[in-house]
Amino acid sequence: MKEKYYITTPIYYPSDNLHIGHTYTTVAADTLKKFKIVQGYDAYLVTGSDEHGQKIEEKAKQNNVEPKKYVDRIVKDIKELWDMLEVSYDKFIRTTDKDHEKVVQKIFNKLYKQGDIYKSNYEGWYCTPCESFWTESQLVDGKCPDCGREVQLTKEEAYFFKLSKYKDRIIQLYKDNPEFLQPESRKNEMLNNFLNEGLEDLSVTRSSFDWGVKVPFDPKHVVYVWIDALSCYITALGYGKDNDENFKKYWPADVHLVGKEIVRFHTIIWPALLMALGLELPKRVFGHGWILFDDDKMSKSKGNVIYPEPIIELYGIDAFRYFLLREFSFGQDGSFTREKFLQRLNSDLANDLGNLVSRTVTMVEKYNGGILPNAAKKQEMDDSLIEIAINAKSKVEKYMDELNFSQALEEIWKVVRRTNKYIDETTPWILAKEDDNERLDTVLYNLTESIRIIAILINPFMEKTSKEILKQIGISNKINWKDSQEWGKIQPNTKVKKGKVLFPRLDVKKELEKLENANQKLIEARVKKLAKEEEYITIDDFDKIDFKVAEIIEVKQHPNADKLLVFKLKVGDETRQVVSGIREYYSPEDLIGKKVVIVANLKPIKLRGEESKGMILAAEKDGKLTLVSTLEDIESGAIIS
Ligand code: MSP
Repeated sequence: MKEKYYITTPIYYPSDNLHIGHTYTTVAADTLKKFKIVQGYDAYLVTGSDEHGQKIEEKAKQNNVEPKKYVDRIVKDIKELWDMLEVSYDKFIRTTDKDHEKVVQKIFNKLYKQGDIYKSNYEGWYCTPCESFWTESQLVDGKCPDCGREVQLTKEEAYFFKLSKYKDRIIQLYKDNPEFLQPESRKNEMLNNFLNEGLEDLSVTRSSFDWGVKVPFDPKHVVYVWIDALSCYITALGYGKDNDENFKKYWPADVHLVGKEIVRFHTIIWPALLMALGLELPKRVFGHGWILFDDDKMSKSKGNVIYPEPIIELYGIDAFRYFLLREFSFGQDGSFTREKFLQRLNSDLANDLGNLVSRTVTMVEKYNGGILPNAAKKQEMDDSLIEIAINAKSKVEKYMDELNFSQALEEIWKVVRRTNKYIDETTPWILAKEDDNERLDTVLYNLTESIRIIAILINPFMEKTSKEILKQIGISNKINWKDSQEWGKIQPNTKVKKGKVLFPRLDVKKELEKLENANQKLIEARVKKLAKEEEYITIDDFDKIDFKVAEIIEVKQHPNADKLLVFKLKVGDETRQVVSGIREYYSPEDLIGKKVVIVANLKPIKLRGEESKGMILAAEKDGKLTLVSTLEDIESGAIIS
């Protein structure tokens, strides 16, 4: 049976603003999953959306929609983004999933019953954007120590989790399991900034807003978003349900991948909760660095957000994913610039990899009619190529164990560069001229064989490119990871055929402009789309309007206004007066007995001295009005919905 490997990304806040920084964790997690799969593991990847909380409630209110409606649309967009990036998650958990909510309540109940949660009063500072509680002394210049934004003084009755009780066990956990929290620097941060100072109990409910999982026995409180969100890692596997097979199979997590700013929640609060629940602890939490833009944090308000979509549309998923994982050192912050992206595309992908494949395939076609020859005449110089190629696999594996994506890719590129160098050393075009066919055959074979190994090694990072390379060298079967450490696997006589250019060389200056424009266009389109959405009314707004069918029983000229007519309308059993400005278009006698549509619950007003109770609907074309009626004759008073 395959060994399991459970990976999670964080559970994302629904935001219209998912930028390349957000895709970083997910791309890394997905690559790790694909890597584990080629290695033979039964890997399972969970991602999801963290939809409750004050911030969402406020945003939904601003947008004039119910919170669930608000998040539904954004979650759809998030899923589309993951699909676009070909993220192969096994489960997308939403904190608004009913099953999840029930289990969060169960967890809360259990902890309350066993005395790990108790009721008290909370007084402290709350940062809504971070959904974090702070004491006065933790604030930095009176602001949130995490994000630097304003905090609100909060005084409310609340339930508390006995976090303090778990302090020593957490410190011990770090000591006993050096792998638990990585990189090492984050461990020191947790110890020095939080644990060594002594942990305070954590307020785990809010009562000043509504949008959250209700405390089952005290529903004016909602469960703190972080308890709700962290629980996703186990509810996604069915924990607390009758069908908890996946939980039994995959828990504990082999690795939680998270950004550095949320390490505290994952390595202090989460293990304490799991300890309280009597569950196994995750084996590893890795806190990666941030992707900055020109050394600054990306944010909508700064206008420096880089969206992934234009990059993917212009240069493909593989180039984007390669760049994210190769350019930045996973544990540290890194700065994104479009120049760096384009330069790497040119150097690593177009020049190194693309060129190697295209040169090799072209030479096999040119010198041997597209048929892979035999390696009949080996020379000593071949050994160093072979050695570096077959040893790459174990090095890549070692770096991937450390979650050092960048170095893992570098090991593969060592093979790519070495193979390019092999072309320069062996000069096949001279061998061809000299008619040294046996040696030429060997060189062509070795080049193709090296490319085969490279294509396997890059597969978890760049699936499409890997498949395209294998196709060009005539290999169509499923990749076998272990074959990347064996030389001589590709069969002589295999048909080699030039395919599409893998990565065309780019004119950096031109592409820079293209990329910037595409990003700007997207920003503008998003702003427009949002503005349009804000103009929508919801079904609840529509429900407020009372449309009815009315029969015209009397029409008079308004005594004080030429353009107005005064109608007596029969609306069911009721008769009412409505004033309407359609004198120009209709003669009163033509209207008697006609059925029209009215807004019946419009606030009554007086129009030039005549009471008007409702509004008759009319359509306008070229400045002319025509009254709205129903297709079939229908009784007056009928409700229109
Ligand atoms: N909802 C919480 C996580 C709850 S997990 C139980 C949250 N969500 S988030 O949407 O704000 O962030 C999701 C992930 O994106 C985090 O890992 C965060 O670090 C990452 N990133 C957001 N901006 C980033 C960069 N600029 N660079 C790299 N990663 C960044 O936090």
